Amino acid sequence: MNLVTQNQRVLSGMRPTGKLHLGHYHGVLKNWQRLQHEYQCFFFVADWHALTTEYDNSQIISESVHDMVIDWLAAGINPGSCKLFIQSQVPEHAELHLLLSMITPLGWLERVPTYKDQQEKLKEKDLATYGFLGYPLLQSADILIYRATQVPVGEDQVVHVELTREVARRFNHLYGREPDFAEKAEAAAKKMGKKNAKLYHELRRSYQEQGDHEALEKARALLTDQQNITLGDRERLFGYLEGGGKIILPEPQALLTPAAKMPGLDGQKMSKSYNNTISLRETPETVEKKLRTMPTDPARVRRTDAGDPDNCPVWQLHQVYSNDEVKTWVQEGCRSAGIGCLECKQPVIDAVIAELKPMRERAQSFIEEPELVRKILAEGAEEARDSAKETLREVRSAMGLSYK
Ligand code: TRP
Ligand code: SF4
Repeated sequence: MNLVTQNQRVLSGMRPTGKLHLGHYHGVLKNWQRLQHEYQCFFFVADWHALTTEYDNSQIISESVHDMVIDWLAAGINPGSCKLFIQSQVPEHAELHLLLSMITPLGWLERVPTYKDQQEKLKEKDLATYGFLGYPLLQSADILIYRATQVPVGEDQVVHVELTREVARRFNHLYGREPDFAEKAEAAAKKMGKKNAKLYHELRRSYQEQGDHEALEKARALLTDQQNITLGDRERLFGYLEGGGKIILPEPQALLTPAAKMPGLDGQKMSKSYNNTISLRETPETVEKKLRTMPTDPARVRRTDAGDPDNCPVWQLHQVYSNDEVKTWVQEGCRSAGIGCLECKQPVIDAVIAELKPMRERAQSFIEEPELVRKILAEGAEEARDSAKETLREVRSAMGLSYK
């Protein structure tokens, strides 16, 4: 990890949906895998979130958790570089959710678009529940409990990160005001040493007097790099920098995951509900069978009929898997009926099998050692809790709930 990013935290959650497929791999897991080398990462199984919609079928949650985590590990998410855990094993999320619920206006939750959308979409379920309305706030608690700076999410979840920012701002506004705030902040600045304190004051002045955002960024980086100041002092200095009170819960940024380009076997987005997936544990035989039988351009009735890759889902897979040379071969061969569809599919079949091979092997080793997976999750939860408890201590004390 480099110096600039090692103090930044990435957090993301995934609802337990059982075995994952190539859409998850290309859409989410590859991104997580890259982030784990650059940041401190927390990745968790959002089992409570699953309960908000699956409360009447909760058995399926526990069955799915294990399979999903095995697939994370198989895809190269490394428990040595990030913390992997199950949400309900870190009960601190729930306490923060409760505390945040006290300051969250009902209208903020009712206005989250996913609230009404999902109720519409899952009409057969009664989602007029307290838990479902609170879902985005639970997500805010997930994020804020680790003071995550970046949250990788898909487009549909960006509004939840926005809500999180508003809740954090409101929290800081309500509870970040100490009577002697300015004096405490000045004293904290001194603790960084003469040179750094001077720099901090200069940058603060540039930001507050001239709105210099570059200065703000520099000052933030300066604070992030300080090793010798306490958490409380750091919060004061962050808040003092921007002219407010203490920043107890920093506002996270959404890290938009580019929409998954992974097409399914029918050309629609790969998704379990379309029944067009290739799972990460698919055997070479079934990969081959699924791809050989997938539809192609309907214009190619006979081998001698020319086709158009733009009307063919196989072409979309070539765009994920093939190099320029192969792509040119497809374009020319298809339009001139120079190649047959099975021939055209072969490079994709080979590429998918090669991509899945190491994943299948890794998954197999974890399937054979369920204890190891349990241990990874238990350790992950323990480490996550240390961090979550620290935030909760600050939150309780800011809200006047620390009794001695
Ligand atoms: N709501 C997310 C989803 O449905 C999962 C999730 C729960 C999450 N808590 C989170 C994602 C916190 C990012 C951060 O995909
Ligand atoms: Fe699709 Fe390839 Fe057949 Fe053309 S040759 S229709 S691109 S499978």
